[in-house]
Formats: sequence, C-alpha cells, structure tokens
Amino acid sequence: MQSKMNVKDLDLYYGDFKALHNINLDIRENEILSFIGPSGCGKSTLLKCLNRMNDLVVGCRIDGDITLDGEDIYAKNYDVNKLRKRVGMVFQQPNPFPMSIYENIAYGPKTHGIKNKAELDEIVESSLKQAAIWDEVKDDLKKSALSISGGQQQRLCIARAIAVNPEVILMDEPTSALDPISTGKIEDLAQELKEQYTIVIVTHNMQQASRISDKTAFFLQGIIVEYGNTIDIFTNPREEKTELYVTGRFG
Ligand SMILES: Nc1ncnc2c1ncn2[C@@H]1O[C@H](COP(=O)(O)OP(=O)(O)OP(=O)(O)O)[C@@H](O)[C@H]1O
Ligand SMILES: [Mg+2]
Repeated sequence: MQSKMNVKDLDLYYGDFKALHNINLDIRENEILSFIGPSGCGKSTLLKCLNRMNDLVVGCRIDGDITLDGEDIYAKNYDVNKLRKRVGMVFQQPNPFPMSIYENIAYGPKTHGIKNKAELDEIVESSLKQAAIWDEVKDDLKKSALSISGGQQQRLCIARAIAVNPEVILMDEPTSALDPISTGKIEDLAQELKEQYTIVIVTHNMQQASRISDKTAFFLQGIIVEYGNTIDIFTNPREEKTELYVTGRFG
C-alpha cells in the first residue's frame, strides 16, 4: 500500500508538558490504522495533529513533520480549511448540528461552493447510503438530526464527514458511546469505507482494534512503543509491554 500520511520525528508540547515524544509513523492508503494505549498516553493528541485540530489549543506547539501525499501540512501558507476537507474527523460523542438530517450533510458541500439543489440531493443520498443509514432516515430528511438515536447520529456524523469527499477519516473512539448493535454497524462500515478512504481510529476496545484494523500503533506515555500489522501486535508482539497491554494485564 502507498503511503498517504507520514509523521516524522514529531514532538508535541502543551506549554511545558511534552505530550508526544519522537513519533514516527506511516499511514498507508486504504488501510485502517488503530491507536491503542491507556488513557492519557497521547492517542487523541496525535490524531488531532493529523488535521491540525491542535492549532486551536493555546500553548500547543510541535516540532517535526507531518505530510499528506508528501506535502508538509504544517508548512507556512498551507490551507488548513482545505486540509480539514481532505482529512475529516468523527468524534467520540456524536455531534450533529442542530438542524435537519438533510442540512447536516449538505452543510459542508455548501460551504465548499456547491449550490445546485440536484447536486446537493445527490450528495446527501450517496453519503447517507455510504454511511449505512439511508434506509433508516430517507423518509425523514427534514427531521432534526438531534431526534434520532445515538447510533444513528454517529452514522450521520460519518455521512457528514464523507459528504465533502475526504481522503482520510480520523475517528476518535467513535463507538464508545454506542450500544453493541450500533457499534457493529460502525465497524462494518469502517471495513467498507477503507476501500475508498484511509482511516485512523482510536479505540479502547481491543476486540475492535483486532477485528477492523490492518495496522496498530500501541502508545504509552507519549511514545509509540510498537507499530505493526494488527495480527502481529495482538498475537506475536515484539515488546513485552505490548503483550501485557493487549492481554489486559496492565493499562
Ligand atoms: N489541551 C490540553 N492542554 C494540556 N494538556 C493536554 C491537553 N490535551 C491533552 N493534554 C494532556 O496530554 C496527554 C495526552 O492526552 P490525550 O488526550 O492525547 O490522551 P488519550 O490517549 O487520547 O487519552 P484517552 O484514552 O483518555 O482519551 C495527557 O497527559 C493530557 O492530560
Ligand atoms: Mg483520547
């Protein structure tokens, strides 16, 4: 698989606190990469670096490089809006906008200049279909997005991320607020989406990481202890710390 994003010698500081230490990571196209590790080890911090969400955090600074298709995303004059269109994000708590299901999906494409109603209709339908929620909402597109279930809201948020035609989708514990059935739907969905997108997912659920991801990175206190094929991380890790963690003996 071809490299989609690359992290090189990345250090990250929140004020005086160094939260990431010398991170090196290759993110391959059409693969699912999962980040695992105990609470506070830096998973969300690294994920947010990938679409510069940390720019919004006062006192946060980084050293090192992150590239998307070989281009430095932290370069001066790099267009951050365009970056966030190419690298979308789905959060732990479903966060639909307080508007209709239709408008939630159409919002992004509209801000990127698509005005034509037929074109927007088409994007709304195809995004909801890709996110496996079309059949459940197609007769109620005018309904408030806040009135559907949490699992439906999360699939709606995935549809919203897809609607702007991203290349990479970042997911920060996207199923931790969901029931097992909704979780299963999102996991199946991730499998389908990787045909078209590159996905990085943070999860505390070891079964989830081993079920859905191709590659896994194990974090401890701001360091990537081990990165490799998911099957190796879970069945034949190189590091003892990884083995202890994935078998639930610490963390
Ligand atoms: N905005 C911030 N300002 C200062 N410190 C922060 C900030 N965000 C995170 N940190 C610190 O950076 C470290 C990594 O946090 P991060 O949220 O990346 O962990 P995580 O691995 O995602 O944890 P969890 O599994 O609990 O979500 C922690 O020590 C955290 O307290
Ligand atoms: Mg986190």
